[in-house]
Amino acid sequence: MKIFQILQENPPWVLRGIKNSDLKTLEWGNHFKRYRKLMRLSFEDHQAGKKVYLVAEMEGKIAGQIVIDWRILVDKEKSDGVERAYLYSLRVFPPYRNKGLGTKMILFCENFLKERNFKFVTIACERKNLRALKLYERLRFKIFKQEDTPWEFFDDQGKLRKITEPEWVLQKCIM
Ligand SMILES: CC(C)(COP(=O)(O)OP(=O)(O)OC[C@H]1O[C@@H](n2cnc3c(N)ncnc32)[C@H](O)[C@@H]1OP(=O)(O)O)[C@@H](O)C(=O)NCCC(=O)NCCS
Repeated sequence: MKIFQILQENPPWVLRGIKNSDLKTLEWGNHFKRYRKLMRLSFEDHQAGKKVYLVAEMEGKIAGQIVIDWRILVDKEKSDGVERAYLYSLRVFPPYRNKGLGTKMILFCENFLKERNFKFVTIACERKNLRALKLYERLRFKIFKQEDTPWEFFDDQGKLRKITEPEWVLQKCIM
């Protein structure tokens, strides 16, 4: 799916669909390297139209990312393929934070989903991530459940990593 949205004119901020050549930069050095395989899988899902993987550019430099999952997930309270869709993997790289980019990316996704008749946007937040929680609550997301979500992934070395993340799950009505 081709997406290209100007988020701000001057200086220029752009949100667009991911390209293969973005994957390395999106690792942000070693910072997100462990998620290499997951990021590639999300990129492939984006190409197949199963998810929307967006990359933000500020003045031509990659500054962040967000993924919209609108499939039927195991947890249908997050995404049920009809009314509810789930935002995840929101990242703004450190030099680009606190300028409003995270806010603009979330608002774009809300609008994108609203245009496609989704009624609720959901997002999960690690319980220790008070900075992100503050952002979501400012955008009128409300916590509707708290859980310890187990998940696993193969890291860039092919090693299976098992994680249990205490998280809040938030939702926002966009009807
Ligand atoms: C959480 C995260 C995505 C926020 O991104 P961001 O681009 O810094 O978010 P914003 O700039 O929109 O908002 C952050 C703060 O900057 C402030 N801000 C917004 N526009 C601003 C501007 N033009 N000038 C100065 N400050 C501004 C906002 O008021 C906000 O403050 P508040 O949360 O106290 O209300 C980013 O910190 C990040 O990537 N963190 C690491 C990964 C992570 O935690 N992801 C979330 C997973 S749940």
